[in-house]
Amino acid sequence: MVRFLIAAPKEPQAKWIRSFRQIAPHIPLDVGYTSPYPDHVQCIMVWGKQGIDYSKFKNLKLIYSMGAGADHIVWDPSVSKKIPICRIVDPQMAFSMSNYIITAVLNYHRHWYDFIELKKVKQWKQYDYDERELRIGILGLGHLGMDAAKKLNILGHQVMGYSLSPKKTSFPTYSGHQLDAFLSQINVLVCTVPLTNKTKGLLGMELFKKFEEPTYLINVARGKIQKEKDILKAIDQGILTGACLDVFETEPLPSDSRLWNHHKIMITPHNASFSFPQEGVHQVLENFRRVHAGEPLLHQVHFNRMY
Ligand code: GLV
Repeated sequence: MVRFLIAAPKEPQAKWIRSFRQIAPHIPLDVGYTSPYPDHVQCIMVWGKQGIDYSKFKNLKLIYSMGAGADHIVWDPSVSKKIPICRIVDPQMAFSMSNYIITAVLNYHRHWYDFIELKKVKQWKQYDYDERELRIGILGLGHLGMDAAKKLNILGHQVMGYSLSPKKTSFPTYSGHQLDAFLSQINVLVCTVPLTNKTKGLLGMELFKKFEEPTYLINVARGKIQKEKDILKAIDQGILTGACLDVFETEPLPSDSRLWNHHKIMITPHNASFSFPQEGVHQVLENFRRVHAGEPLLHQVHFNRMY
């Protein structure tokens, strides 16, 4: 008998269980980090760092990240390289993410945070602005980064992108060894790269020093890609004009973090976008069918590349 397992914190677990039971009522579903029938579990849907021991599931055929990132799976030493890993790629998730990124860029550029402060003291103050001065760099042109770049471009902003492999786009892009050239062109950096061995700690002083202009940082990817001490230092030194961070080295962000009180740092609680289980469950079931049919999988994560 085939069983599926959902291993996730309360949220998003509840929504996924509801959707799964609605869409696939015929498949027995276990919830938690183990199953009473581990040998029957053929697919695990997982979110977050759960300390799940994958090696206990002898007949596991598929591991599914319930989100866009799969770092929580590929960094887990109990995962066998032989079991395929897939992740959710969802236009609705991209829609939400792009809306967050556009909000973050414009709130910063159009002085929204200043107006919130000025309103508190009933002060009437106008700011000068010119959207044409923005040069927004999207670091990482995967599904989410590309969607945001295209939408910012359609809105009339100057956008450029960087990705490991070259991309065909209607806006300028850089790839491979051209990271420094990309960084020298921008004054807003939006990070949408996955967490890998290569990107861990990437958003630090070494990279910030490559900016030619003071730059605003938006990180919606993973907290371990940023070095928070370096972000604070770079803001102090005027290398960064501020930051909007949705992800943190430790989540939830500890209450004694200096980031909380910094007036140039906007904080959101890993909330830029999330996966929508109705779509997610369909993707899981389709890939599970493909595993059994021996067909190529959709949105498969390459173990060594880590995304
Ligand atoms: C959210 O962080 C995701 O990876 O979906």
